Amino acid sequence: MSIDTVATTPFAGQRPGTSGLRKKVSEFMQPGYLENFVQAIFDTLGAVHGKTLVVGGDGRYFNRPAIGIIVRMAAAHGFARVLVGQHGILSTPAVSCVIRQRGACGGLILSASHNPGGPDGDFGIKYNGDNGGPAPETFTDAVYHATATLAHYRISDDSAPALATLGSFACDGMQVEIIDSVADYAALMGELFDFDAIRALFASGFRMRFDGMHAVSGPYAHAIFEGLLGASAGTVIHGTPLEDFGGGHPDPNPVCAAELMAIMFAADAPDVGAASDGDADRNMIVGRALAVTPSDSLAILAANATLVPGYRAGLRGIARSMPTSQAADLVASALGVPCFETPTGWKYFGNLLDAGMATLCGEESYGTGSTHIREKDGVWAVLFWLNLLAVTGKPVDTIVREHWARFGRHYYSRHDYEAVASAPAAAMMAELRAGVAALAGARLGDFTVALADDFSYTDPVDQSVASGQGIRIVMTDGSRIVLRLSGTGTEGATVRLYLEKYEADAARHDLDVQQVLAPLAAIAEQLSGLRARSGRSGPTVVT
Ligand code: G1P
Ligand code: ZN
Repeated sequence: MSIDTVATTPFAGQRPGTSGLRKKVSEFMQPGYLENFVQAIFDTLGAVHGKTLVVGGDGRYFNRPAIGIIVRMAAAHGFARVLVGQHGILSTPAVSCVIRQRGACGGLILSASHNPGGPDGDFGIKYNGDNGGPAPETFTDAVYHATATLAHYRISDDSAPALATLGSFACDGMQVEIIDSVADYAALMGELFDFDAIRALFASGFRMRFDGMHAVSGPYAHAIFEGLLGASAGTVIHGTPLEDFGGGHPDPNPVCAAELMAIMFAADAPDVGAASDGDADRNMIVGRALAVTPSDSLAILAANATLVPGYRAGLRGIARSMPTSQAADLVASALGVPCFETPTGWKYFGNLLDAGMATLCGEESYGTGSTHIREKDGVWAVLFWLNLLAVTGKPVDTIVREHWARFGRHYYSRHDYEAVASAPAAAMMAELRAGVAALAGARLGDFTVALADDFSYTDPVDQSVASGQGIRIVMTDGSRIVLRLSGTGTEGATVRLYLEKYEADAARHDLDVQQVLAPLAAIAEQLSGLRARSGRSGPTVVT
C-alpha cells in the first residue's frame, strides 16, 4: 500500500455556493475534479492526524464512487477514522448528528439537495465542521482559493471497503467504520419528542402519508414512523432512495410533490401529509386541503414549542432568513424573545445556535430546525408536528387557523424564474441595487415604502458582515417585496421574487394567496422589468 501524489491542474469555478459546491454530474466526474476539491478542503483543514471524519450522501448517482475516492484520500492524509453510512447513505441532518455525537472533526456531505440526480443531474459536496454545521464563509473562501493553485492531490492506492456491510474495516492503516445510517439520528429524535404520545396517536387510527420522493429520507421515515412509532405500512411512499430519484425533482413543495398534494386534497385524505427533499433537510407539512407555508410552520412550532419535551424549557430566540415571512417575528415578540433576521442559507444560523441565542430557525424554502443539530431537519419537523397533533388532539388546519386568528396571517409566495440568462439577471440586480435607496418614502400603488435596501447582515456573535444579500422593499404596513439571485442553481441564473402581505382580520384569512399578492407582484415587475429581462411571461415555479 502506498500513497500516490498525483499531478493535477486547477479547475475553474470550484467556488462553493449557498450550500457547498454543486455542479452537473458530468463536470464532477471529470478525472481529478472531485479529488481537487477534496484536496483543497483537506489543505484548508490543516493537521488531521488522529481525527475522525464522517462521510455520507443522499444516494444520488456518483455517491458511492465519490465516497471511495474520499476514503482513499482521507487515508492518505492521516485521518485516524472515517465513519461512513451503510450503502453510503446519510441524510444531511444525520451527518450533522453523527459529527456531534461521535466527536468527529467534521464531515463531507455528498448531495445537491433538491436538485435532480442521475447521470444528467447534479452532484454536490459540502464540508461541515465539528459543530455539525456548514463551514463558515471564511473556510469556504479559503477552499476556493486553494482550488485555484492546486498542483497535486494525495490518494492511497489501497481499495476502499465495500459499503454494504456494517463493521470496522481498514484502508491503508486508517479505520473505516460502516455505520447504521439511521440509528444515531433516531435515538436523538427519541430524546426530543414524546414517542409514546405519537405512538398512541397512530394506534388510535390517525393516518399520515409521508413522501420520501425516492430520496434519502425514506430509510429514516420507514424506521421511525412505521418502525418505532407504529404508523401503518404504506404510510411512507417513494421511500427507497434511487440514484435518479425516480426521474423526479425531490423538492418538497406543492409543485414538485404534486402526488402528495392530490392525496391531501382528495375526499378521503389522511390526517397529515409530509414530504422531504433529496438529502432530507427540507420538509413540507400538509393538512387536509391545506398546505402549511414553511414560514407559518416555523411560527407555529415556535408558538407551541413548550408542548414538546425537547423544548419544554422554552425558546431562547428564533431566527429566520430575510426572505422568510415575518410570522415568526410576531411569535417571538409575544414570547418576549429576540427574532434574528439572517441572510439566506443555513450557515448563518450556526453562530446563533452555538451561542444559545436562538433555539428554532427556519427558511421559507421548506427548511426548519433547532439547536439539536446544525442543519435544517426534515424528519425532525414532521415529528414536531406529529407531537403537536398528538398532544393538542387538533387537526392541522385548526392549528393553522387558530394561529392566524391569534397573530394574523402573512400571505406569502415565492416566484422563481429558473435558468434565465446570467448577464441580464445580473444587470437587473445591479440596477435595482443602484436605485433601491431612492425608493424610501415612495408611493407604489397602494403602498408606501418604509425601508428599501440591499440586505446586509452583521453577525451578532463574530461581527462578520455579509452584504449584497438581496433587494428588500418593506412597506409601511409590513408588506414586503424581496428579490435575490439563487446561490444553488447550476444553470444560468435563477431569480427569486418573494412577496408578503400581512392580514390581521380573521374574516379575510381565506382569500386566494396569489390574488392577495398580485398588487405587490405588479409593483415588483414595474421596478425590475423581470419578465422582459428574463424573456419569460411568468415564473417557472410558484410556491
Ligand atoms: C436555496 C434556498 C435557501 C436554502 C438553500 C439550501 O438557496 O433559497 O433558503 O438554504 O437553497 O437548501 P438559493 O438557491 O435561494 O440560494
Ligand atoms: Zn436539502
